[in-house]
Amino acid sequence: MDFNLSEEHLLIGEAAQNFAENYLLPGVIDRDEVQKFDKELLRQMGELGFMGMMVAPDYGGGGMDTLSYVIAMEEISKIDASAGVIMSVNNSLVCWGLENFGTTEQKEKYLTKLASGQVIGAFCLSEPEAGSDATSQHTTAIDKGDHYLLNGTKNWITNGDTAEICLVMAQTHPEKQHKGINVFIVEKGLAGFVVGKKENKMGIRASDTNTLMFTDVRVPKENRIGDDGFGFKFAMSTLNGGRIGIAAQALGIAAGAFELSLKYSKERRTFGKPISEHQAIQFKLSEMATKVEAARLLVYKAARLKDEGKDYIQASAMAKLYASETAMWVTTEAVQVHGGYGYVKEYHVERLMRDAKITQIYEGTSEIQKLVIARELLK
Ligand code: CAA
Ligand code: FAD
Repeated sequence: MDFNLSEEHLLIGEAAQNFAENYLLPGVIDRDEVQKFDKELLRQMGELGFMGMMVAPDYGGGGMDTLSYVIAMEEISKIDASAGVIMSVNNSLVCWGLENFGTTEQKEKYLTKLASGQVIGAFCLSEPEAGSDATSQHTTAIDKGDHYLLNGTKNWITNGDTAEICLVMAQTHPEKQHKGINVFIVEKGLAGFVVGKKENKMGIRASDTNTLMFTDVRVPKENRIGDDGFGFKFAMSTLNGGRIGIAAQALGIAAGAFELSLKYSKERRTFGKPISEHQAIQFKLSEMATKVEAARLLVYKAARLKDEGKDYIQASAMAKLYASETAMWVTTEAVQVHGGYGYVKEYHVERLMRDAKITQIYEGTSEIQKLVIARELLK
């Protein structure tokens, strides 16, 4: 597979890197501390085209390929993984899902605003009793003729507080199991839609993660995406691409931690020489660089397969599994390379280590990725 990057790919990477270094880096430690993302930064990300990169220009997007998107995701997540997840959910779950499965009316009404970053979206599949076991949806959507009546609770929802548009999965025909699940576009502000508890998290602390509650929320019938019972297929198909986005986020976290370690190892001196001259540190750097490169190749491969219209279920699961395990391993080693300085906030690697952990959990845990890969292998 040929990864020769075009001039456009390189320019996108440069633009994302400049934005991350000049605008995201200055407040990243504070945002982690206060658990809040900056509205002005979100606005800038929208204006620069980072919120709907793959969406067609007709709907306010950048019309770019998946490879461009993962290149930008890596650069943004190197510096601020919270910005990375906000961007990833909006691009690869909400915008992609709407663009590929929504009606023209739904796209005109919602996608244009989402792709240009005027509003942010959320993807609401998980529930207190349905995480990995996503088919066991307890949220219900009862067909009432011209509308559905939505009742239930979603938890762990990224952008749960800031999002104005939510894609919500709910069970309409329990007897049909996963084939009875629907997906709806649900606007904030509808009567009975309440934003609940905000989670106090280990990592990606600047991104908001909330519980969302629905009590007799009337969702117009035209807000259902796809045919009756399409909701679970929608979720799985969307997550196949979403996992490439999270893999790119994990890659960014790992690459960021590696670059900081390489730089620090040349500056810090012990026993009369830079620590980069101790073989034990050199071996760590070599292994970090190798794993980061391998993760990048898997992420690029999954993105390329998607862009070429080929099957990418296995490739996206492999990329997500490997990149997230790499992020955890590399960031842990990065703290070790920094010694005591790695354990405090100023040097960034402790945050990257905390941020890395979630990439092994959301959009399907590492165990679920192995399950997906095995099912593809054994088909
Ligand atoms: N792509 C397309 N279709 C898929 C699919 C995939 N990757 N995985 C399953 N399906 C389809 C199956 O083909 C099947 O369809 P049919 O009935 O038409 O044949 C249907 O879905 C049910 O599949 P299974 O019988 O395999 O269902 P299962 O219950 O045994 O397992 C699972 C499914 C793979 C474990 C799935 O539940 C899963 O992916 N769980 C993880 C959930 C997840 O990733 N959640 C992420 C929430 S969003 C998020 O996390 C965002 C964020 O943090 C930022
Ligand atoms: P469980 O499913 O209870 O799993 C517990 C453990 O058991 C895990 O180690 C798991 O791998 C393992 N396990 C479970 N089943 C199996 C099996 N069959 N074989 C082997 N091992 C198994 N969800 C959304 O819908 N939208 C979001 O925006 C979103 N954002 C999130 C943000 C954060 C910060 C967090 C923490 C979560 C978010 N999630 C979101 C939810 C996330 O996708 C789930 O947490 C994840 O899918 C795991 O589900 P669970 O937490 O219920 O764990």
